Amino acid sequence: MKSNWRHVLGGGLIALYLVGASAVVRAEDARIRALTRNPAAHQAAIEGGKKASFFCINCHGNNGISSLTDVPNLAGQNPDYVLVQTRKFGNGQRKDEFMEGLIKVLSEEQKVQIALFYAAQQVTPGKQDVALVGKGKQVYTQFCSRCHGNYARGNEVIPRLAGQHTDYLELSLKRYKSRSGERVDPLMFNAVVPLKLDQIKAVAAYLNTLP
Ligand code: HEC
Ligand code: HEC
Repeated sequence: MKSNWRHVLGGGLIALYLVGASAVVRAEDARIRALTRNPAAHQAAIEGGKKASFFCINCHGNNGISSLTDVPNLAGQNPDYVLVQTRKFGNGQRKDEFMEGLIKVLSEEQKVQIALFYAAQQVTPGKQDVALVGKGKQVYTQFCSRCHGNYARGNEVIPRLAGQHTDYLELSLKRYKSRSGERVDPLMFNAVVPLKLDQIKAVAAYLNTLP
């Protein structure tokens, strides 16, 4: 019985978090949904997002595929997740020297448009060592797929990991693991506890190869 309280507490925490997060997401959602319901408005928002993201190109690349491997690809990322993260940079819940300043110049509508623009861009999966990928798949299935999904594409509150740069994935996982403070998320803090360094490398390689 003794080992069960962690499980129960963990489950409660996840439920609470998801309720909390979806309450936050729903407000954004309303605007994203209103635009995506109407094809013409959706297309106009994507074009607005392309214009508004002219400065983001410097680091995140032309179509959301960054050439710097410690800068995340935004192509194909879930729009609600992108929107929530831009909010987190804006209010200091997520720390990054560049992003915190940059995000302040965007209006709320521009943030929505940018999120829809990046969501509409093509993901480009990478090639990795086959043995490492096999090991990474096992790690992913055991520890990650229940939240990030079988294809690592996430959902409104959970980010897509499929096709992401290995360097960025490793960096993010190590930061959650060491609780270095750039990002604070109780679900990810718990998720990375069992991971060893070689498992972090393997899971990052696996995720990079997914479309
Ligand atoms: C000077 C380089 C730079 C520029 C310009 C830049 N970014 Fe970033 N961006 C980064 C880095 C580095 C990170 C990763 C921060 C971290 O490790 O947590 C990031 C992270 C993000 C994330 C989080 C992605 C994720 O997977 O969690 C979003 C969303 C984002 N940027 C949006 C934007 C938008 C929108 C713009 C343009 C207004 C922009 N960025 C311009 C460097 C940049
Ligand atoms: C209980 C649910 C849950 C589990 C299990 C989980 N994650 Fe996450 N993950 C999340 C949430 C929620 C976020 C967004 C956190 C934030 O905003 O900082 C996230 C964020 C991430 C990020 C940052 C992505 C980005 O674009 O910046 C990475 C990388 C990641 N998870 C990898 C993993 C890996 C690898 C595993 C398995 C070892 C895992 N996650 C297990 C819920 C989970």
